[in-house]
Amino acid sequence: MHASLDDKALDIIFRDARTPMHWSDEPVGDDILQKLWDLVKWGPTSANCLPARIKFFKSAAAKEKLRPFVAESNIEKTISAPVCALLSYDIEFYEHLPRLFPDDQSAKTWFNWSVDHATTTAFRNGTLQSGYFIIAARALGLDAAPMSGFDNAAVDAEFFPDGKVKSNMLCGLGIRAEPTPARAPRFDFNEVCEIL
Ligand SMILES: Cc1cc2nc3c(=O)[nH]c(=O)nc-3n(C[C@H](O)[C@H](O)[C@H](O)COP(=O)(O)O)c2cc1C
Repeated sequence: MHASLDDKALDIIFRDARTPMHWSDEPVGDDILQKLWDLVKWGPTSANCLPARIKFFKSAAAKEKLRPFVAESNIEKTISAPVCALLSYDIEFYEHLPRLFPDDQSAKTWFNWSVDHATTTAFRNGTLQSGYFIIAARALGLDAAPMSGFDNAAVDAEFFPDGKVKSNMLCGLGIRAEPTPARAPRFDFNEVCEIL
């Protein structure tokens, strides 16, 4: 076995972490956004394809640009977040494989033969990177509020007009303010897992 995290660390990133409903005023510095990416980038992706593309909406003016596209119930959580990240994925990620997967210069051809295959791969791996993003944010002492309640097509038309990048989810970042609702239950191991 490798070295492992202690219970305190596991509490921070899983057991005690909550999805915020409200935010405190504590700001999030640009340095921590840089640190966040510098962790997220190490999470594994197919052929090291790293399809995630992230825009951090931080200024009040920037966050206002999201308002027209966000579900009513998500507006407060988006606008009052110290930072709201738009987690997206590049469906032409394979163009970067000669650099990102240097051991096989043909890696691009594993994906660019089909738009559907490339898009599914980008979505799968971009979503994985979104998961790494949430856990990395928690590991750095932030709360993360993922949100899929927004108009993806309208966001894509506004922020990615060339059609090569697709939005996946928003994720507020900051320190949560109470109240947070009582925690919902989770499945136990035997309900959803099988050891074969
Ligand atoms: C991909 C994704 C999309 C979500 N979309 C929304 C959303 O649009 N609005 C919202 O209020 N919460 C949203 N959530 C938050 C979940 O409801 C919340 O993380 C879940 O209930 C677990 O809460 P807990 O971390 O406090 O236990 C989303 C979470 C994820 C991972």
